[in-house]
Amino acid sequence: MLSTPALATSLLSIGELARRTGLSVSAIRFYEARGLVTAIRTGGNQRRFPRADIRRLSFALIAQQLGLTLAEIERELATLPKGRAPTRSDWQAISTRIRGALEARLRMLERTRELLDGCIGCGCLSLDRCVLYNRGDKAARGGAGPRYLLGDRAQDFADPPVPGKARQLARAQPRLVTPRPVAPRR
Ligand code: FES
Repeated sequence: MLSTPALATSLLSIGELARRTGLSVSAIRFYEARGLVTAIRTGGNQRRFPRADIRRLSFALIAQQLGLTLAEIERELATLPKGRAPTRSDWQAISTRIRGALEARLRMLERTRELLDGCIGCGCLSLDRCVLYNRGDKAARGGAGPRYLLGDRAQDFADPPVPGKARQLARAQPRLVTPRPVAPRR
């Protein structure tokens, strides 16, 4: 419950928070139910949110657009201090931790841009280029999903050597004959 008038005026109603963040009221209720933000209740049992929740929700919004899962976002927001507005260094700690995940996603986006018009190793084998790149769906050996977008390369799935083939090949190779030293004539 709210105790002081000063605290009451620094808080936002759910409608104000929705307007400021661009989220719908139902989305804010969803995030509240997941514990990403915590409302204080007024005497009339209305929700009031600290202004710092604008940043928490904005972070959740951006992080989801960048491809972080809700579980990852929840985990990160749970590291922020309760009962006070997070400081710059609190946010920096989160930013450092998610940098690796963001960079991995950026690399995948770059690969997508490069590969999307050719074979992506998804197993459909419907494009004529797949005959070249993923003959017999070799990429499925890497697991489920579009293997080449996930970082596998066609050469990772090269056929294993056929037993006996290496010996045959070695026999077929022309042998190098080392010339014998010739004795000097007298
Ligand atoms: S695009 Fe689907 S297997 Fe190549």
